[in-house]
Amino acid sequence: MTNFDPSTLTLEQKASLLSGRDFWSTKSVEDEGIPSIVLTDGPHGVRLQEGEADHLGINESVPATCFPPAVAVGSSWDPEVAQEVGAAVGREARALGVSVLLGPGVNIKRSPLCGRNFEYYSEDPLLSGALGAAHVRGQQGAGVGASVKHFAANNQETERMRVSADVDDRTLREIYLPAFERIVTEANPATVMCSYNKINGVYSSENRWLLTDLLRGEWGFAGAVVSDWGAVSDRVAALAAGLDLEMPGSGGGTDQQIIDAVRSGALDETVVDEAVRRVVALTALAPKNDHTFDADAHHALARRLATESAVLLKNDAGVLPLEGVGATIAVLGEFAEKPRFQGGGSSHIRPTRVDVPLDAIKAHAQARNIEVVYAPGFSIDDRGDQDALRAEAAKAAAGADVTVIFAGLGEKDESEGFDRSDIALPAAQVALIREVAQVAPRTVVVLSNGGVVSLEGWHDDVDAILEGFLLGQAGGTALADILFGIAEPGGRLAETIPLRLQDVPSYLNFPGEQGHVRYGEGVMVGYRGYSTVGTDVRYPFGHGLGYTTFDSRDFSAEITGDDTARVTVTVTNTGSRAGKHVVQIYVATQAGPVRRPARELRAFKKVALEAGESRVVELSLHRRSFAYWDVELQRWVVAPGEYRVQLGQDAATVLAEVAVQIVGDVIIPELSFDSTVGDWFAHPIAGPALMQGMTAAMSEEQRAQAADQQEQLRMVESMPMKQFLGFLGGAIPIEALEQLIEASKAPRTVG
Ligand code: BGC
Repeated sequence: MTNFDPSTLTLEQKASLLSGRDFWSTKSVEDEGIPSIVLTDGPHGVRLQEGEADHLGINESVPATCFPPAVAVGSSWDPEVAQEVGAAVGREARALGVSVLLGPGVNIKRSPLCGRNFEYYSEDPLLSGALGAAHVRGQQGAGVGASVKHFAANNQETERMRVSADVDDRTLREIYLPAFERIVTEANPATVMCSYNKINGVYSSENRWLLTDLLRGEWGFAGAVVSDWGAVSDRVAALAAGLDLEMPGSGGGTDQQIIDAVRSGALDETVVDEAVRRVVALTALAPKNDHTFDADAHHALARRLATESAVLLKNDAGVLPLEGVGATIAVLGEFAEKPRFQGGGSSHIRPTRVDVPLDAIKAHAQARNIEVVYAPGFSIDDRGDQDALRAEAAKAAAGADVTVIFAGLGEKDESEGFDRSDIALPAAQVALIREVAQVAPRTVVVLSNGGVVSLEGWHDDVDAILEGFLLGQAGGTALADILFGIAEPGGRLAETIPLRLQDVPSYLNFPGEQGHVRYGEGVMVGYRGYSTVGTDVRYPFGHGLGYTTFDSRDFSAEITGDDTARVTVTVTNTGSRAGKHVVQIYVATQAGPVRRPARELRAFKKVALEAGESRVVELSLHRRSFAYWDVELQRWVVAPGEYRVQLGQDAATVLAEVAVQIVGDVIIPELSFDSTVGDWFAHPIAGPALMQGMTAAMSEEQRAQAADQQEQLRMVESMPMKQFLGFLGGAIPIEALEQLIEASKAPRTVG
């Protein structure tokens, strides 16, 4: 029902449409033919609860495919993977009668400690936005609305319902908003979900600038804004700010507040009408019950997508894939039997089935006449005698040709709702890895974790590390496929693995205190911070190995006009197997008045190449690739100057670079008596005029003196003109300066 006319409804009916009927559905108005629709979680599977709904996941949901969560999709660096996940969850949602599936989550991973990082894509906004937009396209293409969340600056779980994220404008615009902006402007999501937290002291749910001026005004969002579940603090203020649908329902209490506010004149009824129109438009997504889904096909899809996402961090002497490894493989670690493949909280899916890595390894090994011995080595829940478990495992490892240890974080270690306090692997697992690496001829570690874990204390002891993150219900077979070389490890890191937690740029300001979290590192989030400061990391953003090798040549970048550039590079698969390579393009510059990160990801493309195949890959850089957010002008500005376009192996390794000159925006600042002497002299109109006037007013002797006093002049450069005039004792007539101030006003910006 688009273009619905709310005037046919009573005020009571209108208000009733603006909050849920219960936990997961909206209210209907039968007489007007307005149906109720179901909104439920998302994002990497459908969590449809039967019977009494509850928020905490205590109540089981109906079986659905658990696809790789966002942490895995982020590592795929492949919008097609995100789109396939979106399309598949869309098909399942539609078959299950769901109209809006709540996702994707595109908050930036500001700290590895955030308990919900498994549900987010990356520390980088470009990667997050590209993947989020693809997910929305896929899901909405299947006829199910998306809800991009959590808008905005919800980058931690600690105090998430009331903390104020104190973020400056530039940081918001450059880091925390672009993923939302791209999805809204490119993929038209049906809804945007506002976050629980406050931004600079104002609840997102009551933030008119965020929900109306920016989202609708600047970005042209036409859908409905939905509250995160329970994020509304003042219903009337939220409605006035642009929040259309409050979820879950409040039993009618807040509907009455809306009615009262309209009756008392505190709220304009047209605001209610607008919100009603948007909510009613959502009911066009009401299910037609015309779909089923193929659980087997979706499981197979989940398996393929998982292989695209696992990241091979280290592979000394080509220990992986396990080809011709010998007669015996020892598999250790309880995660091999009890896989961890998704995170806890509102996105927890009841899978249709679960692939167990140990079973999959045994199947592949059997086909190759390899014997598999298994020992748990530790218990995920710290039960039992860990020393005895470790001793048993070490014995198995000593007798095997290669040992594969499944390590990671348990459900109790990370979840929605709380943040971690460190990034270490549990001590029993570190002890196991170290001990086994001493006795095993070759050691491979496979990791399952939603948030980044430290590899320190054991990294150098082992031969290979396969970081699976959380891979969804088919992760077990996907990992076995990769270990045996049946599939390539397709992932690259979408977040940095630091050496120490203390190195993380947000370390001193996470998770905040006394109700506030100050985003003190500004735009220097993740690799932007490490590469600018020069901090060593264990593995940089963008890192990941495959089973083949690639060569990149003929890198070129040329300006194509209007602050855009075309980048080309020839990529060759120089190995003997097919594989995938991610072309990563970064831009580096010092141009402009603000501190720029050492480099920023501005374009990427994943390419699949057969052994020996070569391809010319072309990417475009747009105006925004070179821009920064100017807080004085409140707009994107491309500063004139030199920009280095870099081909990165990852965020820390530049393979080639090309310098380009960009004309950019010529900003002619407005002057005032508060502008500094330096600003005045540097001004393209006022500067020369001032210089001329001063020189003309000087005697020969004064001119000679001034020429000798260049260094003293530097001292006064930062002095506001108003104070400087006082020192000059009337040498420059005020009227002349006033005229120059007028002249500096037009035109302000050119270009
Ligand atoms: C979460 C959302 C989720 C909603 C509904 C909230 O607590 O933050 O991501 O969609 O609950 O379960």
